[in-house]
Amino acid sequence: EAESPDSPAATPVEAAPAAASSGVPERDTEYKCSVALRLNAMIKKQTDFADAALYKSPLDVANAIAAKLAEYPETEGVVDKVEVVPPGFINFRVATSFLVRELRNIAGTGKVAPPAEVKPVKVVIDFSSPNIAKEMHVGHLRSTIIGESISRILEFCGFDVARTNHVGDWGTQFGMLIAHLKDEHPNFVDNPPNISDLQAFYRAAKARFDAEPDFTQRAYSEVVALQSRSEESLKAWNLICEVSRVEFQRIYDRLQVTTHEKGESFYHDQLADTVELIKERIPLVGTFTSGEDEDAEAIKERRDAFAAEVAAQTSLDNSVLAEDNGALCFWIVNPREPNAPPKPLIVQKADGGYTYATTDFAALKYRLDVEKADWILYVVDSGQASHLECIYKGGQHMGLFSADDKRVEHVGFGVVVGEDGKKFKTRSGDVVRLVDLLDTAVEGAEKLVRSKLDERLAKIDEQLAAGELTEEEAAAAREAESMDDAEIRKASDAIGHGCIKYADLRCNRLNNYMFSFERMLDTRGNTAVYLLYAYARMCSILRVGTERLSSVLDVDAFFAASAATGAADLILTHPSEQRLAFTIARFAEEIEYVLETLLPSRLCELLYDLSTAFSEFYHHCKVVDLDDIEVSKSRLLIVRAALTMMASTFDLLGVEYVGRL
Ligand code: ARG
Repeated sequence: EAESPDSPAATPVEAAPAAASSGVPERDTEYKCSVALRLNAMIKKQTDFADAALYKSPLDVANAIAAKLAEYPETEGVVDKVEVVPPGFINFRVATSFLVRELRNIAGTGKVAPPAEVKPVKVVIDFSSPNIAKEMHVGHLRSTIIGESISRILEFCGFDVARTNHVGDWGTQFGMLIAHLKDEHPNFVDNPPNISDLQAFYRAAKARFDAEPDFTQRAYSEVVALQSRSEESLKAWNLICEVSRVEFQRIYDRLQVTTHEKGESFYHDQLADTVELIKERIPLVGTFTSGEDEDAEAIKERRDAFAAEVAAQTSLDNSVLAEDNGALCFWIVNPREPNAPPKPLIVQKADGGYTYATTDFAALKYRLDVEKADWILYVVDSGQASHLECIYKGGQHMGLFSADDKRVEHVGFGVVVGEDGKKFKTRSGDVVRLVDLLDTAVEGAEKLVRSKLDERLAKIDEQLAAGELTEEEAAAAREAESMDDAEIRKASDAIGHGCIKYADLRCNRLNNYMFSFERMLDTRGNTAVYLLYAYARMCSILRVGTERLSSVLDVDAFFAASAATGAADLILTHPSEQRLAFTIARFAEEIEYVLETLLPSRLCELLYDLSTAFSEFYHHCKVVDLDDIEVSKSRLLIVRAALTMMASTFDLLGVEYVGRL
């Protein structure tokens, strides 16, 4: 049965109430599968199913599946018990030998492996894509963070990924910007000005555009000059783009994001051909012209009738062209809303100019034909869903690709809202500047790092005062805790930027997302701060454990040997060891799930599960016990596997981590 992305056939069971003896859930390495319940419901609906009598209840279906499974050798060594539970669940217990193998690989190699069965096709991922001269806002921040993470995940899985920044660097806004530049800096060619605040420059130009008819006219002629590529216009255009580019890059550097610019202007000289191709492949079904002295009312009435006629000829299988007072419109049914009226996308304006949509058709063609993409992702806010779906459908009708052999999809996301639930703005109502946002987060992080450090130092003083530590021990403890300014800076950067990224990634991207510094810097719950501290603690557990075991064993050689030969045996006997192992081993399956759904939030859930499973393990199991070297070796390997998985997952999310906090 095909699975809808949100209901995987097998999901790990919810933690059951703690078992009395160990304090950890008993069924901690099981998958509970509900497919028999759904199959039974389907069978009941089917009137012509000959064997229906055999599958009267979900339990019948579950038993049949469980019996059949025994014939499949693939499950051997992976599942060691299949159990049918009323009303029709099939529970699979993962074999300990499987967990041992997985963990040994991860701990031994210090790496997690990507899924083996992925076909490494070419992927073009369009993300970030801010607009020149306009502020890169929180929406673009979401695209940047989500796009970076998905790129990393795809690269990890072996895909050939082209990270593409579809910057809005062409369009009518340049007319007024160039006109204003010429007025303010007449000598700009020889003596390029340093525009530090492009936003202010944009606002000033816009104000004049709205208020001075003279200026408006000049702005229009500047657009024409730019489109005919006059040398002076191109210089002005470049100068303005460069200012934005530097600002964007500053954000990318801080967030450790890589994306390659191929902005709208890149496709400019392909637009005429694109429109020709559209005309060649899509039938023109009508032309509307309003009469010279026809009044507005009459025009509207006629145009509505015309539009209704065109719409009637447009369907999911058939897009059409219609001309409206010289503008060429591409009528397309959005496949996600097949019953909604079709939308006309203007692909050429009456003055001959092209649009955002024309550029998207050209870019789609380029990505398919020149870049040879098998898979194209658009990480763009959900507000553009209908536009993009129409581009994909129109592209298919133009014969650019077939959905049977290409995956062309929108990776949408919700809007960012403030704590009042309204669109995210500053107190004065302005768009929030990204740099300010990052600075605030890093400042908050630094405060947190310093206060946590102070807490730990105060604790040592307390212990000294209470006589629990000697003067010497206290000095050593202080030394071990101390962080210099550079370390604090590095930690604050990691936490500050990490918390912004993580807060975004951890919620299902399709939902709106509430921006709250307070929440993202919370030390409890599924936040970057909590996880980064958990990670640092695990590092210190590994450090201390390694040091203790070093008195009887060459630990590095032991790790190396376990990687090379797989000889070191893991002993997974305690339920909390098994649960931790199970959580670590889930990594592979979660990655496959993310490839299918493009929801990095799943990896965030996994990280949180891991840190809870680890705490439980640490609570119940002494890592190094010099009286039992075999168990200590095994546990050190488990810790190493957990750390490896955690670090790799942080990497895939683009969250930087530090070993000491
Ligand atoms: N620059 C656009 C915006 O800010 C996003 C571009 C997305 N990519 C695309 N191929 N349309 O809204």
